[in-house]
Amino acid sequence: MATVGEIKVTRTTASRLSEVDFDNIAFGRVFSDHMLVADYRDGAWQSPEIVPYGAFQLTPATTTLHYGQSIFEGMKAYRNADGKPVLFRPRENFERMNRSAERMVMPAIPESLFLDGLKELVRIDVDWIPTQEDSSLYIRPLMFANDDFIGVQPSGAYKFVIFTCPVGNYYSEPVKLWVTREFIRAAPGGTGEAKTAGNYAASYYAAEEAKENGYHNVLWLDGNEHRYVEECGTMNVFFIIDGVAVTPELSGTILRGVTRDSVIKLLDDMDIEVQARRVSIEEVQKAYDTGKLDEVFGAGTAATVSPVIEIGSHEGVMRLRPDEERTVGPALLKRLTDIRHGVAEDKFGWVVPV
Ligand SMILES: Cc1ncc(COP(=O)(O)O)c(C=O)c1O
Repeated sequence: MATVGEIKVTRTTASRLSEVDFDNIAFGRVFSDHMLVADYRDGAWQSPEIVPYGAFQLTPATTTLHYGQSIFEGMKAYRNADGKPVLFRPRENFERMNRSAERMVMPAIPESLFLDGLKELVRIDVDWIPTQEDSSLYIRPLMFANDDFIGVQPSGAYKFVIFTCPVGNYYSEPVKLWVTREFIRAAPGGTGEAKTAGNYAASYYAAEEAKENGYHNVLWLDGNEHRYVEECGTMNVFFIIDGVAVTPELSGTILRGVTRDSVIKLLDDMDIEVQARRVSIEEVQKAYDTGKLDEVFGAGTAATVSPVIEIGSHEGVMRLRPDEERTVGPALLKRLTDIRHGVAEDKFGWVVPV
């Protein structure tokens, strides 16, 4: 057993690396050799450990299983052009995780635990970062309530975990989104902005309806009027309307996407006007009807910049031009990819060496 800073490291004696077919990785099903684990109890974080990836022992009374006090993050490590491992804007994820923690009445995670722990974990499993184009190492920080207690109140104990998985593209084809006027993902005053488990569980019912209608996912509308576009279940959305990029504003009900923020800064840098504001589905329909809806795309860590090819609802279908005929989305994806891999200048200081 070696100690790295304050992190105790126990390496696996049975690496699974050689079993992985990096040319055919299913998203989120293959996990790297190690994970970082830290417990919070008696009002303090205990020393973190890096251990072989594996199961936890939980009792049926574990509070998170009942009341869903659980938050997570999603980010990626890449190899740059020199083969060195880098992270993309990890501080943004750290800060968002602590905002989620505050909203869900969970303890703040110290910066050293999150950022140093993350870097150490990626260094140890560096060989798990794929070299294939469009591939990366997805990083999943997670914190869940870990008290043995049945009662509706915040837990006194928590477990913080970081584990990683090599991934390819989340969507293997252009995305089709389904608009529902019946169900909502989040409402003002709720937990929409927190990256918490319940937001996702609550979205599955409508997502099933989307799938039954032949769509990949839901394009959510606001909780009050069921009119204004919010986001998709896995990514923030952008509409290019008559050359202007329009994206729903951060109203507290949508996730503050790191990719959304990067895309806004890149659009600005490309001299494309960006409007972060309310955008109704009627406005999108009108732009489509008048031939002004140039492009729609989603932005997210897992999804990167994904072209939306179709928006459907009980009211009709909007069919959008294919990726080959688009200019903005593909240009953004290329710039983001080039910055992440160190091919283009990182003028915003987004790339952090591991
Ligand atoms: C609901 C939701 N919206 C948006 C995003 C995109 O956020 P980010 O760009 O930080 O990955 C995600 C992905 O994490 C998400 O789950």
